[in-house]
Amino acid sequence: MIADRIRREDLKNKIMSADEAAMFIKDGMVMATSGFTPSGYPKAVPLAVAKRAENGEKIGLTVITGASVGDEMDGALARTGVMKRRYPYQTNKFSRNAINEGKVMYQDMHLSHVAQFINYGYLGKIDVAVVEALAITEEGGIIPTTSVGISPQAISNADIVIVEINTSQPMELEGMHDIYMTENPPHRKPIPITSSGDRIGTTYIPCDPEKIVAIVECDIKDNVRPLGPIDEDSKKISGHIIEFLEHEVKVGRLPKNLLPLQSGVGSVANAVLGGLTQSKFENLTCYTEVIQDSMFDLIDAGKVTVASGCSLTPSEEGLKRLHENMEHYAKYCILRPLEISNNPEVARRLGVIAMNTAIEFDIYGHVNSTNIMGSRMMNGLGGSGDFTRNAYLSIFTTVSTAKNGDISSVVPMVSHVDHTEHDVAVVVTEQGLADLRNTSPTERAKKIIENCAHPDYKPMLKDYFERASKGKFKHQPHIIGESLSWHARFLKTGSMKIK
Ligand code: COA
Repeated sequence: MIADRIRREDLKNKIMSADEAAMFIKDGMVMATSGFTPSGYPKAVPLAVAKRAENGEKIGLTVITGASVGDEMDGALARTGVMKRRYPYQTNKFSRNAINEGKVMYQDMHLSHVAQFINYGYLGKIDVAVVEALAITEEGGIIPTTSVGISPQAISNADIVIVEINTSQPMELEGMHDIYMTENPPHRKPIPITSSGDRIGTTYIPCDPEKIVAIVECDIKDNVRPLGPIDEDSKKISGHIIEFLEHEVKVGRLPKNLLPLQSGVGSVANAVLGGLTQSKFENLTCYTEVIQDSMFDLIDAGKVTVASGCSLTPSEEGLKRLHENMEHYAKYCILRPLEISNNPEVARRLGVIAMNTAIEFDIYGHVNSTNIMGSRMMNGLGGSGDFTRNAYLSIFTTVSTAKNGDISSVVPMVSHVDHTEHDVAVVVTEQGLADLRNTSPTERAKKIIENCAHPDYKPMLKDYFERASKGKFKHQPHIIGESLSWHARFLKTGSMKIK
């Protein structure tokens, strides 16, 4: 019963069905919602909006979230054509296809920018906020569920707020959140976080109860994504990183328990973090964006003292484990708003070790995390840039080949740039690791080709680099007409290899 979860009497008369609540959402509106990779997003109301479109009503929306959300939202709204614009990150195949077909206008953004861009008014007026909640406090405050994302800014900027109370979310989540919001310049103050475990805010999002127009019951579980098994390549990548971190401790550049770890999304990132359970490191801390399954392994292995993030993003199996042991994991986890979890100021102050995944990187250390063959959007940049540029150490990982070896992930020139040579400190594949600190581009190229490229592609990369180096300009040599020929060959023949 959701009445038990609404602690403010006068709001109980706002309880209604998802279909009724969805009627507050009108064609042309900007809708900002809860949800982050894909946890804690509204489900019943977006499904009800999609149903209206299926029944022939013309309705188009701009949809802003913290990051990716599940199929009940991104999938349903993309399939029915409701989604016209989408910011800032998605992973759903239907929204991805709609973006790549040009049906949805997508702006791929640094996640840390989203909250402040809403506050600055850059993303237009927010007509409606739709947020998933665990409960509503006596003051009308919204207690989030498995993520915080942009909910604080959605709620404070929106004209009206629709709350979905999700009864499938365990009440033990209460107390895990730490809500703190910044002011706009020139009134912005330093964020008072000096270590990953600092609590600086409230456990609920303040909300003017007058703004709440509807409260809907929902019991649909987070439609979490499967994580690939931890394979041999991922184990090798993880091994190279651990060896490197051990070396950094030995030479005195890192403390024994390292610095706060940030780990990206996806199977490789999950495996890399998981590898630390077997390492000698103790008393680790995490200041990250998503808390995936391997974080629970680290907690269970007694390796982690605190995990600060924006969302709990386990696989289905991990979600079960989380729900069954919520009280235990709640002692270690803090969920923060996106603008705090991904804040460059905090990342730089804490000195995070950022570990993110690349689709490809080039011989000079530029990284593509988003666009396959330069134009097909995969997911988006996410928070990788927030951490990479501001990290103590920024590491990128990828398996050295993709698509059964027909694609080399180490290329002469990336087909799209998300992270530049100026931001990337270390690149790693299952073949090995290249430390790019304190190197010129040509020194970097030699290390990357030697240490990271797959043996099938190493001679081709060496040949390219040697010929490019014979040109007139010696700083970052390229043969400009040939630098993207590997991608062109793949598109033409199905392989980057020369047949
Ligand atoms: N060229 C073409 N396709 C490639 C490729 C390359 N060089 N490298 C990987 N791929 C494809 C894989 O084949 C796979 O395709 P499939 O879905 O059709 O099987 C897909 O990309 C995902 O690759 P996978 O190896 O399964 O990696 P992943 O699950 O670890 O995800 C990213 C990798 C880069 C897509 C993912 O980490 C991402 O979206 N990153 C950007 C956002 C980010 O870093 N956020 C974290 C900030 S905290």
